[in-house]
Amino acid sequence: MSEETLNVVVRRRQEQGNGVLVLDLASTDGRELPPFEAGAHVDVHLADGLVRQYSLAGSPAERGTYRLGILRDPASRGGSVAAHAQLHEGTQLRIGLPRNHFPLAMDARHTVLLGGGIGVTPMIAMAWALFGAGKDFELHYCGRSRSATAFIDELAASPFADRVHLHFDDEAPEQRLDLATVLGGPKAGTHVYTCGPSGFMEWVIGEAKRLGVPEAQIHKEYFQATTDTAGAAFEVVAKKSGKTVQVADGQSIVDALATVGIKVTVSCEQGVCGTCLCTVLEGEPDHRDVFLTDDEKADNDQILLCCSRARSPKLVLDI
Ligand code: FES
Repeated sequence: MSEETLNVVVRRRQEQGNGVLVLDLASTDGRELPPFEAGAHVDVHLADGLVRQYSLAGSPAERGTYRLGILRDPASRGGSVAAHAQLHEGTQLRIGLPRNHFPLAMDARHTVLLGGGIGVTPMIAMAWALFGAGKDFELHYCGRSRSATAFIDELAASPFADRVHLHFDDEAPEQRLDLATVLGGPKAGTHVYTCGPSGFMEWVIGEAKRLGVPEAQIHKEYFQATTDTAGAAFEVVAKKSGKTVQVADGQSIVDALATVGIKVTVSCEQGVCGTCLCTVLEGEPDHRDVFLTDDEKADNDQILLCCSRARSPKLVLDI
C-alpha cells in the first residue's frame, strides 16, 4: 500500500440518485492533482482511522479535480456512512495517490464497459480515456430505476453520450441489457470490463465466458466480497520478523500476526483491495480473495493476509 498521501479539499458535493454522494476533490494548494489512469482508485482517509477505496470517476485528462461516487450503504462496515456524514464542501481530508488494479487495454479493437449501480464509476473514467484516444467502445450502465441512478445527467451531457446505453430494472423489457446481443458474434479483439454488485458481475462474467470471450479479455473489479476465514489451523512463519504463530480456525492471518506484534496494514479486509498482499516463501496458500487473478493464484507466491489461509500445514511469509 502506498503510504504517500495528498491533502485535498471537497470542492463540490452533490447527492445524486438514491444515496450516491458525488464529490469533486481538489488539492488544498490549488495545484494540479497527480495524473491517474482510467480504472484507478484512491484510498480515502476518514475519521477514526477508517480508510476506504473509491474509484476515480472523472476524466483522466481533468487534472484540477478527482471525482468520486460513494454509495451510502448502511449495511457496510461504516466507511460509506462516515463519508456521507463527514465530507462536505470545504472539508479537508487526506487521500492516497491513485493506484490502478483495473487497467484498461488501450490496444483493444473494441471495448465493452458494463457497470452495475455504483460500479459504473471506473467505467466512466474508462469511457473518457477511450473517447480521448479515439477508440471504439460502448458503455452499458444498469440500475434499478432511473430516479435512483447517479451520473445519468453527466453521461447524457458527455461527448460520448451516443455510446452510453442505460438499462433499468423497472422499465420496458426491450431496454434491458441483453448480453447475447452485446457480446455475441465474433469476439476477436473485444475486451470486456465489469464492476458492480457481485451477483451482477457473476452474471456478466459467466455470460461472457459462455459467449466465447477469452478469459484474458474479461476484466473485473469487485468493490465488495464475502470472506470466510473458516478452516483448519495452520502455522505461519514470519521470516523477516523471526516470529512464528498459529492461525486458528476462523482467525485471519492479520489477526494472528497481531498477537505476536506484527502489524499488517489493511484497508478493505475483504480480499478486494490488495493492501495486505505479501510474498509467500514456502507453503501453499488457500486463496480466498478476489484481488489476485487466477494465474497469480496458481503461482502460489503471493497471498492476501486479511482473508486467505493455507492448504499446507505451514506458510513461510516474507514479512
Ligand atoms: S486489506 Fe484489502 S485485500 Fe486485504
